[in-house]
This record gives sequence, structure tokens and C-alpha cells, in this order.
Amino acid sequence: MERRDFIKIGCGVFGVTAAAAFLQGCSKLGTSNTPQGPSVNITLDLTQPANAALKNINGYVYDNSGIIVVKTAATTYVAVAAACTHQGCTIGWDGSSKNFICPCHGGTFDTNGNVVSGPPPAPIKKYTVTINGNILTIAG
Ligand code: FES
Repeated sequence: MERRDFIKIGCGVFGVTAAAAFLQGCSKLGTSNTPQGPSVNITLDLTQPANAALKNINGYVYDNSGIIVVKTAATTYVAVAAACTHQGCTIGWDGSSKNFICPCHGGTFDTNGNVVSGPPPAPIKKYTVTINGNILTIAG
């Protein structure tokens, strides 16, 4: 092998390796494990007509602070940020899969806000929900 051929092969191997490292780096751009969502500290009165959906399992409401609240079981409520971490569409609740689903590109989040599937690059924020009589306090 001549010196010129050796340099050509070496540059080719280096180029492929550099390209692979570059592409791997690119695939991680824009991803985060940090849940995304607003900070909230609100109460919802379950006796108010606007919150009537929360009387039924799988019923849900949106609060104007940017969250969605779901009744997932008889005495269990889940509150998460309503904006998808992909492009900001408002997620909805799918009672059959017990996941939050984004209507725009099919991003799916579990009840902890973690990404189950689809393009969202980060989890959505989950809030603490406490129940006192007919009052839900949602904070986080
Ligand atoms: S905006 Fe939600 S998956 Fe794209």
C-alpha cells in the first residue's frame, strides 16, 4: 500500500466515525428528562358545574393555568401540564389506555407525565393533588 492510499483510507474511516458521532449528537439535541409545565397552586371545587366532569372516572377538565386534571379512579385524581412538549398542542385523556395523548402527532404520556411514545422530547410536569372534601388542591 502506498502512502497516498493509506491516507485516503484513513481519512475515509475518520470521516465515517466523525459523521456517526455528529449524527448521534444531533439525535440528542432538544431532548430533556426535565418535565415541562407551569408552576401552579390552585384549588378546584368539585361542586362547581365547570368541574362536573370530575365526578366520573375518566372525566377530565382543563384549568386556565395550563393543566389537565383527570379522575382516574374513585378517589384518585391526576394533574399534569396540558401542553405537549413537542410543539405545544393541548393533550387529551384516553380512558381506555389510561394515557394522555397529543392529537397533533400522536405523542403519548403516562399518568406520571413520562413519554410513552411519539415525538415529544421531554416529559410533561405532574402535579401533587390533595383532596379535602369537595376541594382539590393542585400544586407543583
Ligand atoms: S405537538 Fe404533541 S406530538 Fe407533536
